[in-house]
Amino acid sequence: MVTNGKDVSSIMLGIETSCDETAAALVRRKEDGSGEILSSVVRSQLDLHAAYGGVVPEIAARAHVELLDPAISQALSEAGLGFEAIDAVAATGGPGLVGGLIVGLTMGKAIALGLGVPFIAINHLEAHALTAGLTDHLGFPYLLLLVSGGHTQSLIVKDVGSYERLGTTLDDALGEAFDKAAKLLGLGYPGGPEVEARALLGRPIIALPRPMHGRKEPHFSLAGLKTALRHEALARAPLSEQDISDLCASFQEAVADIVADRTSRAFELYEERLGKGAQRTLVVAGGVAANQRLKAALEAVARKHGFRLVVPPPELCTDNAAMIAWAGAMRLSRGLIDDLAAPVRARWPLDPDAPPAPGAGVKA
Ligand code: KG4
Ligand code: ZN
Repeated sequence: MVTNGKDVSSIMLGIETSCDETAAALVRRKEDGSGEILSSVVRSQLDLHAAYGGVVPEIAARAHVELLDPAISQALSEAGLGFEAIDAVAATGGPGLVGGLIVGLTMGKAIALGLGVPFIAINHLEAHALTAGLTDHLGFPYLLLLVSGGHTQSLIVKDVGSYERLGTTLDDALGEAFDKAAKLLGLGYPGGPEVEARALLGRPIIALPRPMHGRKEPHFSLAGLKTALRHEALARAPLSEQDISDLCASFQEAVADIVADRTSRAFELYEERLGKGAQRTLVVAGGVAANQRLKAALEAVARKHGFRLVVPPPELCTDNAAMIAWAGAMRLSRGLIDDLAAPVRARWPLDPDAPPAPGAGVKA
């Protein structure tokens, strides 16, 4: 808890329900500002959505209702704690699917009200952005590349609540592009791991475009790559197993090149904004960060620009509630709490002042 601006240890309950993971966690923030995960429970709804090739909002919301209660009980029992140990409650307020957000936010408010402790509504993207403070005790500022099924952004993380967006996607998110590529090639959902596994069996011999290559602003565009992949697949139909693997390898190679090029531009902008003396660390978060080929490409480009690469462990890169609890603990330590009227927000940009990317759709 924060008392008279002085940090003392606090235990935060975190709740995450913005997409298709129902998650609850308990995290302790210690006096020295470091964090400790006491428990982190993630109940994936993947099997409920797999048949549809994507997340179905109504199914997700109903599943959160069923799964959240047991997830919170499990988080408490794994931490060996009762409700009375909780100093504050943090729940995702957005961005995400409204039905699920209402379930988690309402539960968080009810627990906070019942216990008489502070409540904090968390921006899911801020939670991804602050995770490196929990896993690596990383201080500000740093460059963040957030690459998931719903988001593709590069941001300067200056402080809690202070972000400058450098790049965003004009169309599909990176994970979404992997998912669509997989669907097109008849592979399962989620597509990223499937494409990566098949790429290991293939050769990157099929020419595919690198949209936005060399552009000044570090934005992404993936729609053209997806279309080119479709054309190449149609041209080879019926596809042999080797064709599918070669297409996966070629697609993944194109994505790795795109990410390296766009991130290299983000490094330059980071230095332009903050000067040469600023900490040079790139943090990669989001499900796509699990891709080994992408990680290797990012490692190479980071080295070239004198940046250190930090990739939190996969279970903390993908959606989880420990990151929500940690963001809550960071905000609480700054006295940033919310009242029970905090709304759900389907859209909630980290940098509301960022100029719209030219031609960008709603995901920017
Ligand atoms: O962060 P995440 O678990 O959920 C959200 O989207 O919020 O990210 C899931 C996305 C999916 O699109 C999935 O296909 C992609 O991350 N992904 C990968 C890999 N593992 C997961 N993409 C490429 N390579 C992977 N190994
Ligand atoms: Zn996420």
